[in-house]
Amino acid sequence: ARTAAVIPAAGRGVRLGPGAPKALRALGGTPMLVHAVRAMAASRAVSLVVVVAPPDGAPEVRALLDDHPLTGHDRAEVLVVPGGETRQESVRLGLAALPADVATVLVHDAARPLVPVDTVDAVIAAVREGAPAVVPALPLADTVKQVGPRTGAAEGEPELVTGTPERALLRAVQTPQGFDRRTLDAAHEKFAAQEGEGATDDAGMVERLGAPVVLVPGHEEAFKVTRPLDLVLAEAVLARRRA
Ligand code: C5P
Repeated sequence: ARTAAVIPAAGRGVRLGPGAPKALRALGGTPMLVHAVRAMAASRAVSLVVVVAPPDGAPEVRALLDDHPLTGHDRAEVLVVPGGETRQESVRLGLAALPADVATVLVHDAARPLVPVDTVDAVIAAVREGAPAVVPALPLADTVKQVGPRTGAAEGEPELVTGTPERALLRAVQTPQGFDRRTLDAAHEKFAAQEGEGATDDAGMVERLGAPVVLVPGHEEAFKVTRPLDLVLAEAVLARRRA
């Protein structure tokens, strides 16, 4: 049975500032999405990568990936499918493109271009050892506050703190998240109709199914490129790797 990676790359990247869709922005002269595809294909276990493009952007993404072919032992088949309005919908459309012989699925944000292959392999190994869902995670540096709902608060009113969860019991989670394929399919089928922004990660949907989700150590370099400062950090990490 094969292991495949689904890369949702249909987000606009509004928080990064104006410009091209986030996945297509350059990092060290190469589009972020190309780094993310290489990071998945770098694992010898991954033989297929499904990239989920913006809804009207599949031909452009296909052309971009053809311009940056995988080489050497990073060889894997790369499919491109059009995505949806939310991350959750984009992942569901990517899962629908997987062939029947795929038993293990990784879901990896295009916005985490620098995840090291050892992290990818650790996630795959834990799924193959029997965990239905596996998430790379790190302890938090910041203390986190819970805030009250904004509904009813006037514009410009300060937010009110309603609680402080114990930091030692919190983890920041990253991708790739790894899944037994049937478990993830079932979660996406069950929660497809939910309203709003959708799930911000896939393991959360598996938790709602009642299946166990296990953690493996995350990696600092698997950080998500979200805001402009993250681009500065990503360029510095790349420069250090190339030195
Ligand atoms: O917005 P956020 O940073 O959480 O996005 C995480 C990942 O989900 C990114 O790789 C983004 O391209 C992807 N995404 C998507 N389809 C959407 C929204 C986000 O594939 N509609």
